[in-house]
Amino acid sequence: MDTAAKRLAWLPFLAREIPAGLATPADVARFELEQAGAKASLTVDPAMGEGWEISGDGITGGETGVLYGAYRLLMARAAGEAVPTGVQRPRYPLRMINCWDNAEGDIERGYSGRSLFFEGGRLSYDPARMRQLGRMLSSVGVNVLCINNVNVRDPAHRLIEDWLPELAALANIFRPFGVRLMVSIDYAQPMRHGVPTADPLDPQVQDWWTRQTAKVYEAIPDLAGYLVKADSEHRPGPFTYGRNHAEGANMLARALAPHGGVLVWRCFVYNCQQDWRDRVTDRPMAAYQHYSPLDGQFDDNVILQVKNGPFDFQVREPLSPLLLAMPKTRLAIELQLAQEYTGHQIDVYAMPPMWREVFDDMGADTVQAIAAVSNLGRDENYTGHPFAAANLFSYGLFAWNPDLSAEAVIRLWCRLTYALPADQEEALCRLLMESRSVYEQYTSPLGLCWMVNKMGHYGVGPDDYEFAAWGTYHRADRDAVGIDRTASGTGYLLQYPPALQARYADPATCPDNLLLFFHRLRYDHVMADGRALIQRIYDDHFEGYERAEAMAKTLAGLSLPSPDREEAARRMDMQLRNAREWCDVINTFFHRFSGADDAQGRTIY
Ligand code: GCU
Repeated sequence: MDTAAKRLAWLPFLAREIPAGLATPADVARFELEQAGAKASLTVDPAMGEGWEISGDGITGGETGVLYGAYRLLMARAAGEAVPTGVQRPRYPLRMINCWDNAEGDIERGYSGRSLFFEGGRLSYDPARMRQLGRMLSSVGVNVLCINNVNVRDPAHRLIEDWLPELAALANIFRPFGVRLMVSIDYAQPMRHGVPTADPLDPQVQDWWTRQTAKVYEAIPDLAGYLVKADSEHRPGPFTYGRNHAEGANMLARALAPHGGVLVWRCFVYNCQQDWRDRVTDRPMAAYQHYSPLDGQFDDNVILQVKNGPFDFQVREPLSPLLLAMPKTRLAIELQLAQEYTGHQIDVYAMPPMWREVFDDMGADTVQAIAAVSNLGRDENYTGHPFAAANLFSYGLFAWNPDLSAEAVIRLWCRLTYALPADQEEALCRLLMESRSVYEQYTSPLGLCWMVNKMGHYGVGPDDYEFAAWGTYHRADRDAVGIDRTASGTGYLLQYPPALQARYADPATCPDNLLLFFHRLRYDHVMADGRALIQRIYDDHFEGYERAEAMAKTLAGLSLPSPDREEAARRMDMQLRNAREWCDVINTFFHRFSGADDAQGRTIY
């Protein structure tokens, strides 16, 4: 079994492991305050729920609120910041992490080792490490942890069957941290038990879920609920029975309602068997087409979980129009901490600047809950790249307060984690703040998605998705590239409210970073800055590579502690090789199509 990491992420001042046996969040709070030498009195006022207030040397808060308050006090002290005044409450009641861990112990899109929860086809974990994880999550306010993959494959369905006692034991470990478990379920699960169908309107199906869910809540009375991926990428769902997703979701929600559970239903639904010759079907349109007509038909304890963009966690996508089209439905936005398309936790990629844009476009109150796909694994530092922890940290703080500035949250992470001299802290903070834009520039500037290697989604593969069934095309030819998604093209743009339509409709005013997402343009198209499109493609890729080199230099000048210093340096070497490859392959790809020479005469192969 693993031993818990020695230096605890952004809480390096908590040297002692949490002992077993602390029963409540207030117990944990007392333990943490004491070991950090902070003399604060705790007052539990259950009416405050998750809220807390610090005044003088006292923390008053609800049952979990006191723990959140204690962590924020300790972090503020360590960072030399003032504690916020007044009562602090989270914006969203559900602040979830979704792990895509399989029962075998591997993690779908996992880049930091094997699962923390499973091994060899069963639950298997180090309790001490679970407590470390509990305090990490709690310190940034995450309150729901879904431990198994949304693609529920045998034997993971047993979590809510004969594995319930073990699941309950795990729930007990997380409870004192204010973290409740959630499980992904298999929509067709009753069919494993002799029910001949999974039709949501069939009484036998309803009955199976009602009975099974009662057993689940007997074992784990505070389970947050179920997470479901249905009719998506070959998962079963109500479409098989001619039912819509309100009918499917409500059936499960009614089994959960008597127990206070929520049903989180993912909206990642599209045709993953598209014929690449089909130029009419446009994948980003799918979720809106399926769900927006159902607005108002979902039960109160259903939450529709929508990815931030209409495709699938690309480096840059516009906001999913579905998020703006369901005013009568509870929504969760789904972000991805796992760096699936964003560098596999090898390349540096700090997400807060991206989330800031997403929330500014969406309006924080459009959703009522927030989820993020986990970047956690069994690596000693939990996240593979030591800097990837900044994304988990920032996610928690954003979920609590989506109005935060990206820079403030990154700076706080840097300060807590490393306590570097001021100039180095500034340099690290800038490196992280720029990292997404650097990655975007050497991989996929101008809003062009899906140029990625199809085998695993790390590295370049400009034609990998072009003749495939996933609905993900750039349609480059000798004259032009991109897809016209305006009213004259696929019509995707019309799914947006008027203000966003206006922002994107005209190539002359559409932001450069989404230009080729919305428009098909000739290589000689003159950009707002006067350069031809093809020249911008070349320039951006060369510049992206140069900026990655500059990042490597900055990194080398930082006096990070071991082993982060060596680990970050090792990964930076890989990042530079990756950036070189992206730059050269993409430029060569477009040069061969267009025949256009680089105005600066740089090497294109
Ligand atoms: C992506 C990812 C899959 C995942 C899916 C999902 O397509 O590549 O591994 O299962 O998203 O979000 O369900």
